[in-house]
Amino acid sequence: MKVNFSDLKNKVVVIAGATGLIGKELSEGFVEQGSIVILSSRNTKKGKQLKNKLNKLKDGKVFYHPVDISSEVSVKALIKFTLKTFKKIDIFVNCSWPKTKGRLKNVDEIPFKSVKEDLLSHLGGYFLCTQKMALQMKKQRSGVILNFSSIYGIVGPNFSIYNSTKITCPPAYPLIKGGIISMTKYFATYFAKYNIRINCICPGGVFNKHDKVFVKNYSKLTPLGRMARSNEIVSGALFLSSEASSYVTGDCLMIDGGWTAW
Ligand SMILES: NC(=O)c1ccc[n+]([C@@H]2O[C@H](COP(=O)([O-])OP(=O)(O)OC[C@H]3O[C@@H](n4cnc5c(N)ncnc54)[C@H](O)[C@@H]3O)[C@@H](O)[C@H]2O)c1
Repeated sequence: MKVNFSDLKNKVVVIAGATGLIGKELSEGFVEQGSIVILSSRNTKKGKQLKNKLNKLKDGKVFYHPVDISSEVSVKALIKFTLKTFKKIDIFVNCSWPKTKGRLKNVDEIPFKSVKEDLLSHLGGYFLCTQKMALQMKKQRSGVILNFSSIYGIVGPNFSIYNSTKITCPPAYPLIKGGIISMTKYFATYFAKYNIRINCICPGGVFNKHDKVFVKNYSKLTPLGRMARSNEIVSGALFLSSEASSYVTGDCLMIDGGWTAW
C-alpha cells in the first residue's frame, strides 16, 4: 500500500508489540516513510529477525530493544535506550497484546484472579507506557502517542460468531479495550498543552488463519463482508502519527469494515 506522509522521515518511532500481526505491518510502514524505528516486544528472537529484514529495505534505520509493557523497569529501559542514541522520542505506538493464561474462559466460569491479571498486564501496561512516554514528550514539548483498542472497546461481542469455533472473546478484553479508549482521552486532554497528541485505533477482526466457520460468521456481520487484512491498519496509523492529523487528539479511529456502524 503506497501512502506518503513525508514529515515522518527521520522521526524517532518506538513501537511496542512490533513483532505481532499488526506490529510487523506498522513497522514496515514507518520504515517505508523513512522513520527511525525502534522495534520492541517480548519476543527478542522475532524482533531481531524483523530488524534484519526491515534494515534491508531502502534507507532502513531499524533497531530492536525488548520490552515488557507491564514492567516499569522494562519500559524505563526502553526509553533510556532510545534517548541514549536518538535524544528524543517523536512517536510511540503501542500495538502489543499481552495474553494471560486462562483468559479464554466464558464469563460464567472465569476466576476473578485471571481477570485481574489480564487487566494489570494489558490495560495496566498500556497505562504505564502512555504515562512514561507522555512524561518524556512533555520534556520535549512535542510528541505523538498511538494506542491500540478494538471494536470491543466500543460494542459488546456478538457471541454468535464464536458458534462452532474454539475461540471466544475473553471477558476482560472489553474492559481493557474500553479502558484504553477512555484512558487515551484522559491523557490527550491532560497533555495537550505540551503539544502532545494521543489517539487510538480500533481495528475490527484481522484475518490470521482463522478457521473457515469463524471467518464466515464474522464476515456475515460486517458491512464490507470480510475480515481486515493486517496491512489495512497501516495508513490510519501513519495518518494519526503524522502532521496530517495535527488537529486530531483524544480520537478513536475505527478501522473495522463498518462493524460498529449498524
Ligand atoms: N488482530 C486482531 O484481529 C485485532 C483486532 C482488534 C484489535 N486488536 C489489537 O491490536 C493490537 C495488536 O494485535 P495483533 O493481532 O498484532 O497482536 P499479536 O498477538 O499478533 O502481537 C502482539 C505483540 O505484542 C507483544 N507482547 C505481548 N505481550 C507483551 C508485553 N507484556 N510487553 C510487550 N510486548 C508484548 C508480542 O510479543 C507481539 O509482538 C492488540 O492491542 C490487539 O488487542 C487486534
